[in-house]
Amino acid sequence: MNRKYRRAVIAANWKMNKTPSETRDFCTALRSMLPRSRWCDIILCMPAIDIPSGMRVLKDTRVAIGAENIHEKASGALTGEIAGNMLADAGVKYVIVGHSERREMGESDTRVAAKLRAVLDNGMNPILCVGESLEQRELGVTEEWIAMQLKIALSVVKPEELKKVVIAYEPIWAIGTGKTATPEQAQEVCEFVRSVVRKLYGARPARSVPVLYGGSMNEKNAFDLLAKPDIDGGLIGGASLDPEKFMQIVHAANQNND
Ligand code: PGA
Repeated sequence: MNRKYRRAVIAANWKMNKTPSETRDFCTALRSMLPRSRWCDIILCMPAIDIPSGMRVLKDTRVAIGAENIHEKASGALTGEIAGNMLADAGVKYVIVGHSERREMGESDTRVAAKLRAVLDNGMNPILCVGESLEQRELGVTEEWIAMQLKIALSVVKPEELKKVVIAYEPIWAIGTGKTATPEQAQEVCEFVRSVVRKLYGARPARSVPVLYGGSMNEKNAFDLLAKPDIDGGLIGGASLDPEKFMQIVHAANQNND
């Protein structure tokens, strides 16, 4: 990461894990481990039903609560869906959009863009996920694929709104597989992500947009990944379910901050 130009962000993505009571226990444990000094930004993205529990325990700390999904429409006959104003009213600051697990459920790039718009329209910050499959990597189309995902999603973001956006590069082959990208592989694509942002918005915004890596990041490999200049943080699934492991990743980000 490059602290001169951008902040470090460590974000948890719990996926479909933890009940409200488990959320309370996790957040209570995390709270007791939080340092007093200024550290990297910490975000916990959790299932919607857990958000009030997380919010209650972590209010008046610097930990932000995030959601894992949003519906792009403002309201209506959409049984089971959650609108942006509901999340914002609950105190949510970040929302993940474009995660490969949701793309796998049929979310297209244009739908991801609409969701990203809904996040911004409700005053929250999108964490936009992009990433290639193993097949695409082996075919040598990683950059083309990621450029397309970024261009479609960011087409709804005005230049003055880019500072609200966090981008996460998550190679599908590394998610939940224990097969992390090497720091070099992750750096290469995170640098490419920044170059696409540069073409779309110019040098200065590209320099300040946080680009995270996600895909089997854990307390053991975080330090080396975060040492790379274009990797500004992590989006962490499995290793974010344990408060101690998660805090070790936060520590790794802070050591790299020095
Ligand atoms: P993982 O998940 O850390 O369990 O690989 C990361 C993610 O999907 O955001």
